[in-house]
Amino acid sequence: MRAVTSAPSPSTDARAVDERPFDPTELAAFVARAAAELAGAGDLAELERLEAGLVGKRSPLTSWKRSLGRLGEDERRRAGRALNEARAELEATVVRRREDLAAVERERALSADRLDLTEATLDWPPGHLHLVTRIREELEDVFLGMGYEIAEGPEIETDWYNFSALNMPRDHPARSNQDSFYLALGDHETLLLRSQTSPVQIRLLERGELPIYAVAPGRVYRRDTADARHLPIFHQIEGIVVDRGVTFGDLAGTIAAFVPAIFGGDVTSRLRPGYFPFTEPSAEFDITCTICRGGGCRTCGYTGWIELGGCGMVHPAVFEAVGVDPEVWTGFAFGFGIDRLAIMRHEIEDIRSLLENDVRFLTQF
Ligand code: DAH
Repeated sequence: MRAVTSAPSPSTDARAVDERPFDPTELAAFVARAAAELAGAGDLAELERLEAGLVGKRSPLTSWKRSLGRLGEDERRRAGRALNEARAELEATVVRRREDLAAVERERALSADRLDLTEATLDWPPGHLHLVTRIREELEDVFLGMGYEIAEGPEIETDWYNFSALNMPRDHPARSNQDSFYLALGDHETLLLRSQTSPVQIRLLERGELPIYAVAPGRVYRRDTADARHLPIFHQIEGIVVDRGVTFGDLAGTIAAFVPAIFGGDVTSRLRPGYFPFTEPSAEFDITCTICRGGGCRTCGYTGWIELGGCGMVHPAVFEAVGVDPEVWTGFAFGFGIDRLAIMRHEIEDIRSLLENDVRFLTQF
């Protein structure tokens, strides 16, 4: 009966579920070995396994407890107390060891997860605003410096703002030059994606706050097929000045002031007679060719000039459409394409590259 009388092997004794005659010497030896085994557990999983065998139901402590009924009362009480103390001691050892091992594992997990903030990564240069946005902001700054306000209008406009109030009634031939995107919304007033920023003139005049010194940059839409010089979505900036006694000379002076501010001091401007329904007289304005700087080249058709935009004195019919008295107020307006300005200033061959989002292109500016 060696297996019963010898001290049980702490963690491997599968027979321990049975009754085992209580022996204080065996108990002391068991506790010593069990404490050593628990202290030596390498990780939480091992500790768990040892705990089940040493303190749990399969523990020799349990088998000894079952045998207590056979002992006399005094001896039973003493043995019971010894077993309880042994269990409490081993349980306390398990708790301490569990805390230690958990701390070690947490430490290990934290250091495995740690971000090395000093590690070198690919060196991406900081980004910047799109060329068209930057030119728009430059234009805004130039006009803010001249005392203008920056205005905005909706990109979805009614036919009235985009055309009729600008002296372009339904049968007006100029409408066909600005083939537009109409919104199919049933019987509502005709809505379209604005084909020009000029409707912002109407919105500003309608406010009834005069005088007006404003520019309105923004996106416009036309049913054009994209090619090297055209986009169906592009940007314009509109200017409008309405005050008492504004003259064509003020318009010419304004253009002469902002062109070199945007293009550099050696670029000048000139006005040519033109036609727009909402201005009278109307003009187109040219700037010194940015390729040949006025010397004459293929881009400017050997004239030394390239066209930038349109302008003129606000037509009395426009004032009348919004209830402003043309006998008291006069004004001028101008408008030009920002994308076009961008390709001219930076000698970009194809305007479509502005929309292609090719970082190699965008980072050149
Ligand atoms: N809205 C015109 C266009 O898109 C440009 C323009 C011409 C605006 C003359 C003006 C102007 O304010 O006076 O072609």
